Amino acid sequence: MIVLGIESSCDETAAAVYTTEGGLRSNVVASQTIHTRFGGVVPELASRAHQQTIWGTVAQALDEAGLKPDEVDVVAVTQGPGLMGALLVGLCFAKGFVLANGNRLVGVNHMDAHMYANFIDHEPVYPFLCLTVSGGHTQLTYVPEPFEHRLLGKTRDDASGEAFDKIGKILGLPYPAGPVMDKRAQNGNPRFHAFPQGLLGEGFDFSFSGLKTSVLYYLQNKGDEAAQAAFLASHLDDVCASVSHAITEVLVKKLEAAMDETGCRTLMLAGGVSANSMLRAKAAKLAERRRAKMLIPKMAYCTDNAAMIAVTGHMLAQRGAFSDMRLKPFARLKA
Ligand code: KG4
Ligand code: ZN
Repeated sequence: MIVLGIESSCDETAAAVYTTEGGLRSNVVASQTIHTRFGGVVPELASRAHQQTIWGTVAQALDEAGLKPDEVDVVAVTQGPGLMGALLVGLCFAKGFVLANGNRLVGVNHMDAHMYANFIDHEPVYPFLCLTVSGGHTQLTYVPEPFEHRLLGKTRDDASGEAFDKIGKILGLPYPAGPVMDKRAQNGNPRFHAFPQGLLGEGFDFSFSGLKTSVLYYLQNKGDEAAQAAFLASHLDDVCASVSHAITEVLVKKLEAAMDETGCRTLMLAGGVSANSMLRAKAAKLAERRRAKMLIPKMAYCTDNAAMIAVTGHMLAQRGAFSDMRLKPFARLKA
């Protein structure tokens, strides 16, 4: 089976080809840079940029896999959650492609795809526990079998990636601040300041907005703008490390608590924040200490990409879960 995956839920236009025999055959990502100057993703600009790039991105993915459009069996496309206008570009493109070339259509849930990105390079193992941490979501899920997702906990306010981005903005870093904070943190002292670890020891839900406020007050307490700038000039790396420590500590401790609760010994990270080096290191330590198996996607499959859409679409198609032309986008996950 040859699957073309298409992703357009936020600010990455991506296309990839995954086949039953050869695995991943191509993986193309066009990241939109226009949003940087606005300090966050501007939905209308994202839709327009998808519109301009989607043909070229898909054509390149097919080209690199050495395929013509009518040789594709299945077109898997992100259905949601995401920005409505951005999703519509991918979905309409996929429907047009399928009508023109006679392929089957499969709608893919973006969050599920982040999780199943782990199966691009690893053999599937069930049950598993997955900590999915992205710009829009933070959730802890128990998965006893394919596509049976039991949500143990989720964030009550900001997502963990959102926390990195918003705190980074407070510290004067460009959007998206997550990767920049990660780099900075590597040269800083994680124990420089003890920032709050929201809802630690209280069930499986997460909360990061208190941390954000606490960083804001911490900085304001350093004095006027000039004093804050002087403080950051010598301690930005330390603050980044301490904030990263607060976020990743909570994530990993809740993952360990979920292990105890479920008895599950296969753990996974997924989503953009799983690219974070401190989180990856703590997760690896946890797995070693508790003799658990820890799967973490390759960096390229952590942040938004179409390889994860193609691999998940392949799993769905093998189960006969095809969509038809009535496939509609959805902006949010159902509560
Ligand atoms: O999964 P993703 O690409 O998009 C969503 O589905 O949201 O995640 C993007 C998020 C952003 O908030 C970004 O700052 C964060 O992932 N991120 C990181 C790192 N790389 C990306 N956060 C911390 N450390 C990183 N290395
Ligand atoms: Zn994502």
